[in-house]
Amino acid sequence: MTVNQGENIRTLQDELQSTPDTLDLLERDSRAFFHQTLSTPVFEVVTRAEGAYIYDGAGRRYLDLHGNGVHTVGYQHPKVLQAVRDQLDQALSFAPRRFTNLPAVLLAEKLARIAPGDLNRVLFCPGGSEAVEMAVMMAKLVTGRWKTLSYYGAFHGAGFQAVSIGADPHFRDGLGPMMPGALHLEMPDYYRNPWGWTDPQQIDEEYLRQVRITIENNPGIAALVTEPIFYNSTVPTAFYWQQVKALCEAHGILLIFDEIYTAFGRTGKMFACEHYDIVPDLLVVGKGFGGSILPFAGIIGRDDFNVLEHKSIGHFTHEKNPLCCAVARAVIDIVESERLVEKTAELGAYFKKGLLELQNEFEAVGQVTGLGLNLGLDLVENRVSKQRATAPAQGVMQFCMARGISFKLIQGNILNLKPALVITKDEVDYVLETLREALKSATMA
Ligand SMILES: Cc1ncc(COP(=O)(O)O)c(C=O)c1O
Repeated sequence: MTVNQGENIRTLQDELQSTPDTLDLLERDSRAFFHQTLSTPVFEVVTRAEGAYIYDGAGRRYLDLHGNGVHTVGYQHPKVLQAVRDQLDQALSFAPRRFTNLPAVLLAEKLARIAPGDLNRVLFCPGGSEAVEMAVMMAKLVTGRWKTLSYYGAFHGAGFQAVSIGADPHFRDGLGPMMPGALHLEMPDYYRNPWGWTDPQQIDEEYLRQVRITIENNPGIAALVTEPIFYNSTVPTAFYWQQVKALCEAHGILLIFDEIYTAFGRTGKMFACEHYDIVPDLLVVGKGFGGSILPFAGIIGRDDFNVLEHKSIGHFTHEKNPLCCAVARAVIDIVESERLVEKTAELGAYFKKGLLELQNEFEAVGQVTGLGLNLGLDLVENRVSKQRATAPAQGVMQFCMARGISFKLIQGNILNLKPALVITKDEVDYVLETLREALKSATMA
């Protein structure tokens, strides 16, 4: 359940006092677009997106703690805008196939330098979903196998193969058979596991048993695809990922880390896999890579995967788009020059400490999850049942929206807090103080 639900949206619009112009545009939007869950109905108009903020139809601003994950360096970063202008001034905004261009090569070389371990070759494409498709196809062709392992509840994009390795019914139901050989696992649940366990080692062992059994009973798995830090901000232990990596190696399975959300500093490391001392076989990037201006994504892999010269896994019109490449290079430059990785680690720890204080104050805060500026506040009916407190979560979200803070709910009850990495300490304090008031109001109601 998200804010995109009829009744909640009307309550929110009342609270925000949406303007007649806004309501008119929402109506036109509703007539003009095909509706689809999670995207429609929409509840406000965005008129401007700048820095860590978006602005609505009445000109009110919201600290954007969602941004679909594209706002790594904030919206309209001056250096990103400059990169766009420079590129356009050079009259080089497209490169037809079989021509290369300097921005594309510079970006590929830069990624090879900053990527973990021996990952040093890339392919680019327009969006994250396509990048995941490329990674899976590469793994299949390189290994000569066709099965995949991935996690229930994961989202890896809207393409057919990406939907198949994801496991959310919204995206799959009614489409007939999914990609054959797409097997699924459960992500370790350190909070609501069916055994009521709390010891991470014991929990990991049980979930690893599941990985082992699945692998042993399904020969021919090409790749295990996953986000290193899960979409609901669950942070698996280093032990878990290191064991998974060892199992993959032992069975000739490639490990694909989908870092479309987490790459370029979001978790307090340049790439989230660095928290685990693991180098995946293929790493997928996207979202913030396009500087919140352009859709852009890619894969980074090892040199020895460069064996598909007679195949085509990324035959995209905008494969080496110079404008996208210039923007992506500007993003990485900003992350480095503004020390956003270090800043995110520090500010994220401060933010999390504040959330943990809220957990001490409010019985409704069941757990605080996440790393860096990728945090989750899991609201519960009570700490024994751990039942998801969806109505209070909705109340907290609406309270915050009315005070200029926007975020989304995950699984109905987890406040998903992912600001632009350029957010300031004062802004984090404002979020914490507003959450405190919101929790008071929602849990006393
Ligand atoms: C982890 C992850 N993988 C893949 C995708 C798909 O990316 P895109 O929407 O650019 O196709 C998303 C998008 O939300 C994502 O969060």
